Amino acid sequence: MPSKKFSSNDKQIFKASLILDKDFAIARVDERLYGSFIEHLGRSVYEGIYDPVNHKSDSSGFRLDVIEMIKKMGVSIIRYPGGNFVSGFKWEDSIGPREQRPKRLDLAWATTESNQFGLHDFCDWSKKVGSQVMYAINLGTRGVDAARNIVEYANHFGGSYWSDLRKQNGAEKPFDIKLWCLGNEMDGPWQIGQKTAYEYGRLANEAAKAMKWVDPSIELVACGSSAYDMPSFGAWELEMLDQCYENVDYVSLHRYYTNPANDTPNFLAKSVDMDAFIKTVVALCDAIGGKKHSKKKLNLSFDEWNVWYHSREQDEQILKKNRWGQSLHLLEDIYNFEDALLVGSMLITLLRNSDRVKIACLAQLVNVIAPIMTSERGCWSQTIYWPFMHASRYGRGTALHPIINSPLYSTSEFDDVPLLDASAVLGDEDTLTIFAVNRSFENDILLKCDLRAFQNLELEEHIVLHHDNVKAINTEDAPNTVVPVIRKDCRSENGNIFVQIPALSWNVLKFSVKMK
Ligand code: AHR
Repeated sequence: MPSKKFSSNDKQIFKASLILDKDFAIARVDERLYGSFIEHLGRSVYEGIYDPVNHKSDSSGFRLDVIEMIKKMGVSIIRYPGGNFVSGFKWEDSIGPREQRPKRLDLAWATTESNQFGLHDFCDWSKKVGSQVMYAINLGTRGVDAARNIVEYANHFGGSYWSDLRKQNGAEKPFDIKLWCLGNEMDGPWQIGQKTAYEYGRLANEAAKAMKWVDPSIELVACGSSAYDMPSFGAWELEMLDQCYENVDYVSLHRYYTNPANDTPNFLAKSVDMDAFIKTVVALCDAIGGKKHSKKKLNLSFDEWNVWYHSREQDEQILKKNRWGQSLHLLEDIYNFEDALLVGSMLITLLRNSDRVKIACLAQLVNVIAPIMTSERGCWSQTIYWPFMHASRYGRGTALHPIINSPLYSTSEFDDVPLLDASAVLGDEDTLTIFAVNRSFENDILLKCDLRAFQNLELEEHIVLHHDNVKAINTEDAPNTVVPVIRKDCRSENGNIFVQIPALSWNVLKFSVKMK
């Protein structure tokens, strides 16, 4: 229960408390919560993950240094090949001998796509990274036939036209792609082949039926509205789900946050909006389930989420000079420390909603609004790399509902925002991890963790990401400006653990536990 309001220039140490019990289970965290996204856009594929002329690449042209960084991040599933790109994409262009693959205009990003990296390359690359594939099909310019054919090509064992073509192209075994997106952001006017909710719902339903007839083991994500603040939001979900509810498994959500007015307290509260967005989409899904008297419950795929705004003006200039270019430096947001804090809070929000959010993709992964940047010489981590890496590594197991009592603050958009944002995960191997963000600009928080339900509790590590300058960034020349440090700074009293959470910080409290 939130308590007292404090003004932000009050320099005392604030107090907050958090109660956890193993019986406060939200859900098993689906490992696909720690997904990401690679789109044919800018330098995400070319010069990002695929660079055959670079000395750091293997014989397939895959950047080995980038693969190493992604592995360290622990990315469980990667959405591909778009995004907006997919709505004009012919998947058949991306298979077969490279020299025969056509160059096409990509209308989504006003660039030229060479198709030198395609379906086989992505599946091979994903194996090396240790990630599952989440493949988006084109429901902008294409339809049921192309949809069922790619499932046959990718997943059928053999003895049919498309599966034999896959074998001829070098992949004897099926790729066995289990998760498919039925198009991308189909209510957006910027989308090639934008549709009404009814048109999309009908098409998604028919594509879903045919795809599942080819391979009944696959799962499908229907496009929710492309943003919470789209005029079509809500009505779109109700209408399109009315058409396809029984044949799809998840509804997609996309959300990017900005801080153009440089209002950091308000920016750090944006995960409150994310939480409301998730709860609203859950309600919309359940409304249609109720209307249909269905036993089926749809879950959510938050398959694009991040901060995105730093590069907007630069992108306009690049495209003014070089429309239809290749490997342009598009959407190269340089992330600062406050972005990492919001990304931390967004991860906390996903965990707290993990009973319904089963898949989430940080958009994107390399160079394009990404935690990892590359140059010819090497690669480095942006600030947002760290909270994702920590959550992905230590946030696997059962998400627990923390009862939080925190001081509150209000911003231009949000009232009564807790200064302490937190979630917790009980791991399978006698571990308990608390993730916490202190949103206060000036005040450390003395956090009382009431963990009496756990025995032999020991704080193994307190990882802290903090920088005195919220605008601090990592660059190729100074890659370690914003990096986590490890503390061991708790005190224990009557079964309660007290930890100091510094002002403006992302924290990971890793405990070893024995259950009572
Ligand atoms: O991730 C960048 C773009 O954002 C994606 O292509 C699109 O789906 C969204 O609008």
